[in-house]
Order: sequence, then C-alpha cells, then structure tokens
Amino acid sequence: MTATYLGLDIGTSSIKAILVDASQALLAEASVPLDISRPHPLWSEQEPEAWWQAVLAAVHKIKTANPDAFSRLCGIGLSGQQHGAVLLDGEGRVLRPAILWNDGRSGLECEELTASVPDFLARASNLAMAGFTAPKILWVKKHEPDIFRATRKVLLPKDYIRFRLSGVYAGDMSDAGGTLWHDVARRQWDDVLLDACGLDRSVMPHLVEGSDVSAVLSDTLKRDWGLGREVVIAGGAGDNAASAIGVGAVNPGDGLLSVGTSGVLFAVTDRLIAHPERGLHAMCHALPGRWHGMAVTLSAASALSWVAGLIGASGDLGALVQQVETFAADSDLCRNAPIFLPYLTGERTPHNDPEASGLFAGLRAEHDRIALAYAAMEGVAFCFADDLAVMQEAGARMTNCVLVGGGARSAFWGQMFADVMGIALDLPAGAELGGALGAARLALLASGAGSVDEICPRPRMERRFMPDHEKAAHYAPRLARFRALYRVERALRER
Ligand code: XUL
Repeated sequence: MTATYLGLDIGTSSIKAILVDASQALLAEASVPLDISRPHPLWSEQEPEAWWQAVLAAVHKIKTANPDAFSRLCGIGLSGQQHGAVLLDGEGRVLRPAILWNDGRSGLECEELTASVPDFLARASNLAMAGFTAPKILWVKKHEPDIFRATRKVLLPKDYIRFRLSGVYAGDMSDAGGTLWHDVARRQWDDVLLDACGLDRSVMPHLVEGSDVSAVLSDTLKRDWGLGREVVIAGGAGDNAASAIGVGAVNPGDGLLSVGTSGVLFAVTDRLIAHPERGLHAMCHALPGRWHGMAVTLSAASALSWVAGLIGASGDLGALVQQVETFAADSDLCRNAPIFLPYLTGERTPHNDPEASGLFAGLRAEHDRIALAYAAMEGVAFCFADDLAVMQEAGARMTNCVLVGGGARSAFWGQMFADVMGIALDLPAGAELGGALGAARLALLASGAGSVDEICPRPRMERRFMPDHEKAAHYAPRLARFRALYRVERALRER
C-alpha cells in the first residue's frame, strides 16, 4: 500500500490541505476560511486557536473524503503566512492574538531596532519593516509589558501548528529570515539581533531545513486520526518559498510571480543576495544551499477587488476584467486613463512605507468605472515593474518566471505584467495548489521519497506570455508618472 502525504498551508484567508501519493496525484483537498480582525487602524490579527480549529476541520474533511488514503499518511509538510508573531507562555499557551504580516503598527519600533544595532542591515540582510516579526515584539514589549515578560516562545504561524501537531518547537530556514533575528548567510539565529529585542535563543524554536524532518505527529493525534505508522513532519516553508517549491523553482535563476492578496516576485539564488536599502527580502530557500530574493507588493489582487467593490462590480470580476480588456484595446482611452497607486495597506518593496496610501490621479469627467478598474490593474503591474527593478539591482538573475495566484487567472492581466515588466511569464496548466503542494513536496523529501529533481519538477505550462515591445512603449511614460506620483503622495503626508 503506497504512502500518502499531507500538505497544510496556513494562509491568511483560509487553511488549505491536500493529500497526495508518492507520484503527487491529488487524492483529496479541503479549504476552511479564516477571518482577520482589524481592531485599530494598521492592525491585523488572528487567533492561533482559529488556525488550529481550521486545521482540524480541514484534516477531518480530507479524512472523510478519502479515508483509505488518509490511513496511509506518513508525512506532513507545512507552509504558512510569514512573519506573524505567536507568543506563548511556559506552558505553550497563547498569550495574545497573533500579529500578522500585514500589520503596520510597528513603524516606530522598526526605527528603534535599526538604531539600536549599529550594523543592523549587515546582520539582518533585510530592512526592518513593520511586516516582519522583530518590530512586532518590540511593540509588545513597549505596550503590553506583562505579555512580553510572560513570553517563553515566539513562533511563526506554521510553527505554531507544528507545535500543536507534535509538541515540538521547531522552525525552518526560509521562514526564519522574515523574523529579522536570522543570520541568513549562516542559516542560524543571530544572538545580537535577538538581544536587541530583549530575547535570546531559548525563546526561539530549533531550526531545520525545510526538506528535513522536524518532528513526528503526536501519539494523541495519531490515535484520534486512526493512524498506525509514524508520521514525520517536514521543516516546511514560508508560503512563498513553499509555492516556489510547488512550481519547481528550486535552482538559481528560477523565478515566481505570485499574484494573490499581496504580490510577490521571488528569485532562487545559490548565495545570499541582499539589497535592504530598496526593501528586497533576502532569505534562505526551503532547500539546503539555496537562498532567495523576494520583492513584496502588499496590495495586488486585493487592490482590484477593492476597486471592484467601490464600483459595484464585486459580483462578477470576470465580466469586469473583460470590460477592462475592451477599454485597453482603445489606445486613446488607456493613454488618458487615470493612474492608480495601489498602496492600500502601505508598501514594502521598494518603499518600505507602512503608511503609504492609495491614490487615483488624473481623473477627468470622461472617466467611468472601467477607467478606474483599468488603472487599478495597471497600478499593480507597475508595482511589479518596481519589484523587478529592485531584484535586478540586487543582482538576482532570473532566467524563467512562473506566474501563479488568483490574479494569474486573467490572461489579460498576465499579458499586461509581461509587457510592463519586459520578461516572459509562464502560466502552469491545471489546478493551482500553491503552498500546499510545496508543503506536500517537502514532506516527500523529508520522508526520503526521492531527490529534489525527482520530487520538484516544473509543472506542464499552459502558455507563455511574451513581452510586447510596442505595448511596453505605451506603458513606459505612465510608469514614470506612477513613480513620480508616489513621491507626491509621500510629500503630501509629510506636510
Ligand atoms: C511575505 C509576506 C506575505 C505573506 C502572505 O513577506 O509577508 O507574502 O507571507 O502570506
């Protein structure tokens, strides 16, 4: 009887679970939605218990859908939203809601952290950004000192789920870089960075490579889930590294553009490539001897959904995009379209500005709702052009790039990204399993089911978007205005 593997992705909007066999045939899948709480401006939180209950519900659905395959489970891989801070007391109890990756409250703490370590950038390889973990802890230390004093472990979201699955405190290299406590080049915790936040290694989970075994499923859960054999839990990965593993982005030069709530441009490297001044995220990949550079745009598909909501088009996004496509075919219309800054939840790369805001510029009486939607789609593409520029400045060479995420479902948008960025983008065929597939692949690797080349091939591609140079010439002056507009938006805020 062949073994099966579970990939669990602890996302922000849902928990996704897939069950595959050794050939990665999909045997069952489940998704359980999650809510975000925004109790104050800039805040974004979730209860770790809600993740855990959703994991249990997702596993229950998988088990019910295919009990025979589930009974042969021998490996679990974890993928998860990055950077979130889960604080536990000495008994493993959660002390406060998790502060998430898209929480912008700790801008001041970022400045304080940077000022407190003279060689901060060289050590952390990353700019102190409000999305990352360390400034969140400094915020807790300042505003909730009792909770800080009671904290005995700080875990990332997927590592909290590992703890609930196994009782083990462990983390993986790819997620660790997003804490700002990681020596990314040496793949170990950095004592000076920890000390700057009043922490030490005892508070940190033990680190393993994403493709190594981190723990085994607890006896209690094995019994509850009716499992006989030992179930190993792989180190796993942050969701972006896991998505990269899922589309075979495992070798230097392999790239990924993920267009979800946020947008991520990800390039695999064989060494640490840092460019903190421009907000490049420099982290380890989920495989030994591999690193990655990552540029993050905080509002991508979510910017289009937001505009769609404003113009009453949320009910049928597909129809809206079709109307935008017709609009875009008229060169006069799109030359004179408004320009949109999609910084609805601030921006990371290249501005590192949690308070950056959205803006429509160049509005005229003749503009209608479709002109606004066009501007939103183009504004997101311009963010990706900025992301690529930062990646190139850093020296991360991308020889191919796979396009994934909800936003990749629109061929019109995919072509726009290729035209604006000036690179070819490959769209995989078939259903997209994202971080959950990467997590399952890491479980296969940890279980010794094959080599990286065997377990992590690129998927079959459905199509390639080639950049169109004429279109690029249309976008170039608008991209220049987009870039100038951010400077104006910033100057307005600082007045
Ligand atoms: C990456 C980041 C987001 C989250 C989303 O730096 O913050 O992509 O991982 O899940």
